[in-house]
Amino acid sequence: MTEFPKNFLWGGATSASQYEGGFAAGGRGPSQTDYIRRIKKADNDKNFLYDVTEEQFEKYRKHPSDYNFPFRRGSDFYHHYKEDIALMGEMGFKVFRMSISWSRLFPKGIEEKPCQDGVSFYHNVFKECHKYNIEPLVTMIHYDIPAYLTETINGWESPKTVEYFTHYTKFLIDEYKDEVKYWLTFNEINMVLNSAFLGGGMFVERSKKSPEECMHQALHHQLIASALTVKYFKKHASNDKIGNMIARLQTYPYTCKPADVLASQQQNQFNWFPTDVQVKGFYPQFILNYYKKNNIHIDWFPNYKEILKSGTVDFAAISYYHTGVVSTDEDKKEKIGTFVRKLENPYTKASDWGWTIDPTGLRISLNDMSERYNHIPIFIVENGLGAHDELTKDHQVHDQYRINYISDHLKAIKEAIMDGCNVIGYTSWGCIDIVSSGDAQMTKRYGYVYVDADDEGNGTYNRYRKDSFYWYKKVIESNGKDI
Ligand code: BG6
Repeated sequence: MTEFPKNFLWGGATSASQYEGGFAAGGRGPSQTDYIRRIKKADNDKNFLYDVTEEQFEKYRKHPSDYNFPFRRGSDFYHHYKEDIALMGEMGFKVFRMSISWSRLFPKGIEEKPCQDGVSFYHNVFKECHKYNIEPLVTMIHYDIPAYLTETINGWESPKTVEYFTHYTKFLIDEYKDEVKYWLTFNEINMVLNSAFLGGGMFVERSKKSPEECMHQALHHQLIASALTVKYFKKHASNDKIGNMIARLQTYPYTCKPADVLASQQQNQFNWFPTDVQVKGFYPQFILNYYKKNNIHIDWFPNYKEILKSGTVDFAAISYYHTGVVSTDEDKKEKIGTFVRKLENPYTKASDWGWTIDPTGLRISLNDMSERYNHIPIFIVENGLGAHDELTKDHQVHDQYRINYISDHLKAIKEAIMDGCNVIGYTSWGCIDIVSSGDAQMTKRYGYVYVDADDEGNGTYNRYRKDSFYWYKKVIESNGKDI
């Protein structure tokens, strides 16, 4: 196979909270991410800056001007969308993954009617995409819940949030179905188990449940909200496609000791579990057993079995950045990386942020996924290299390291397709530089386009094409022949 399949969906991905800016424009309400601040290494003692506590949240809410909140600025897509979409058009994007900011439409999350400025903004964005024959791929929620719901009902811990969310998603479907063919319900739905504030818009310390129980409860509500949305979608937008998404973490055993192999199998099963529910329509037995064994009591949503069964997705999506290693040896408890705890793998290199670089892991994951879900269409909706870039005096960025990274991952995808996987698209992460989610910093860059802004928000916000911009354009032009 020299080329990728015909109609392969090439493009790039972003999220509203990291990209959009326009924090209070047009009546938008604050989202919980607007309260995540940039913490310099020196006072980042816990290394989990996105787990905002209730106490911090109160402090930030009362004295916002004392802090640096990068997600309020993003890369100012709100005011640059025409220019940015033109750049995507120039690269030849077939698809642009973006998310809608719930609080731009429903500022508190509880309103009956949406905010018209927000509604028009997204119509304008979609119109601009179509001008360049780019199909929007819209994530309905990407780490972004109206802060009012965090404050008042503890976000996704509450079943009320299911009701508010489905009111919002029904509106999205009715309003935009003629302009958007591809949808995702939740970004990385499994991440609520890693970060309660970012993924669940909630404070575990406020819950009567144990932290783990509270996170699984929130995940249950998200799975229900997703299924109810898919059910409505199938009835009202049956010509379009809707998918789910997890952050895929391929885990390897540290040794060939059977106990290590078993531990890695369990980690992988655990990682796939939300996709199991969203593709197959029911909770897998190993999770129910895990709940029993660990005293995790879920308040099951009324009719949850029926809801899950009727809300299965058309395609399955993943983000893929790095792989992990697990050991049963008690001495091997080292933790590295921002999002996930893992052992170092002596066979892989790592990025400046300690994320392993492992294209073969992607091929393994795609094959596992294909087998596990009966050859389902697969969309890789995030992948990329966060790196320090240097803008030269004549406004160039020589990012061969990024080209190498993406090229190696595309080769792995090509091989997986030759293995038999039905991969329908690839949207690399942060195609135009955006604020990093785990580190709240602008200078961890993923884009093909450089945005002139620093971690404190200084800069012109001008856009400059990097070397990878011209390279990716050729990749798309050649339909993946030229990688
Ligand atoms: C994914 C998220 O987990 O990883 C994105 O969906 C995020 O929102 C991306 O930006 C990369 O992580 P980071 O921390 O480098 O921005």
